[in-house]
Amino acid sequence: MKNIVIVAIAIGVILMGLTYSYVGDIIGDDIVNIITILAALVILVLAIGVSLKYVNQMKNDTASGELADENWDGIGEYKNELPIGWALSFLGTMVWAAWYWTMGYPVWAYSQIGEWNEEVKAHKAEYEAQWADASQSDLKNMGKSVFLVQCAPCHGYTGDGLDGKAADLTQRMSKESILYTIQNGGHNFKSTYPGGMPANMATGESAEQIAEYVASGMQGAQPAGYAVCAGCHGPDGKGIPGVGPNIVAFDNATMAAILKDGKKGNIGTMPSFDGRLTPVQVKALTTYINSIQM
Ligand code: HEC
Ligand code: HEC
Repeated sequence: MKNIVIVAIAIGVILMGLTYSYVGDIIGDDIVNIITILAALVILVLAIGVSLKYVNQMKNDTASGELADENWDGIGEYKNELPIGWALSFLGTMVWAAWYWTMGYPVWAYSQIGEWNEEVKAHKAEYEAQWADASQSDLKNMGKSVFLVQCAPCHGYTGDGLDGKAADLTQRMSKESILYTIQNGGHNFKSTYPGGMPANMATGESAEQIAEYVASGMQGAQPAGYAVCAGCHGPDGKGIPGVGPNIVAFDNATMAAILKDGKKGNIGTMPSFDGRLTPVQVKALTTYINSIQM
């Protein structure tokens, strides 16, 4: 017992000494600083006192009270009263929770984040209205600015995909990417094409021919195998709303689907831009990307 008191006091003195050596010269006669140091001293004394009390209790206390009937391999349990402080705190949290939800900070009341969200929403609506009937050249310029900020880091300033780091946007899709989709199917654009595309829609030579044909922008004679694709992508490849995207060109619906859900494919991962671009900006990006198509 004596040793532990001596150690506790020594630790207290060392802590206060260290604190003083760090801040002693800035305490000066500033009353706030002096109160802070005194408060630190009080906290230290209390902490040591309370610790000592419990250490003592652990050493000397004996269990008391009525033993419960159950015991586990000889280990029993006393039927002690719930500590009053604990019970009151428990009830208190319930009262506080009810108060918090209904009066303190109700979910439907004012909040700074809410105000900010409202302002952003109003601003976006204003922006959408302002550019509702933007001309093609306005859309192209807007698309280019958005592209340079948001997309160029991965797709490159010219949109060529930085040597295969991201999709080359100067063409709708490469033969390899199309072949990859034919073999693996796809379920990226869930919000727009919930059914997805099943894997192995064509195989071997036939798959090669179809991929070549689609990559060329569906020029020339249509391979017989394309018939299976037509059911979802249309005989001309221009897509069917809700069933399959346009695979010959980037139209607005396809672009919106890609930007909403992002895409994981044979090249890498295209992040989702959901909520970060307005419908006008998506339209602008479609216009711009179509303008760089070869
Ligand atoms: C059952 C309907 C269905 C059939 C049949 C189908 N597709 Fe698809 N295809 C889809 C859907 C849906 C998507 C979008 C996949 C996604 O969400 O990732 C898609 C995506 C694609 C894409 C990728 C488009 C992109 O921008 O990422 C290509 C390329 C494609 N299909 C080509 C084909 C070809 C070629 C065939 C025939 C061999 C075919 N599809 C058959 C429904 C279909
Ligand atoms: C973090 C890098 C990154 C950013 C940023 C990014 N992309 Fe992509 N994007 C990719 C990758 C990687 C792919 C290829 C995905 C695949 O098919 O494997 C891709 C694919 C695409 C495709 C082709 C999807 C298809 O049909 O297969 C389009 C269109 C596209 N991105 C447009 C954009 C636009 C527009 C932006 C800016 C708003 C953008 N990307 C920003 C990485 C990025």
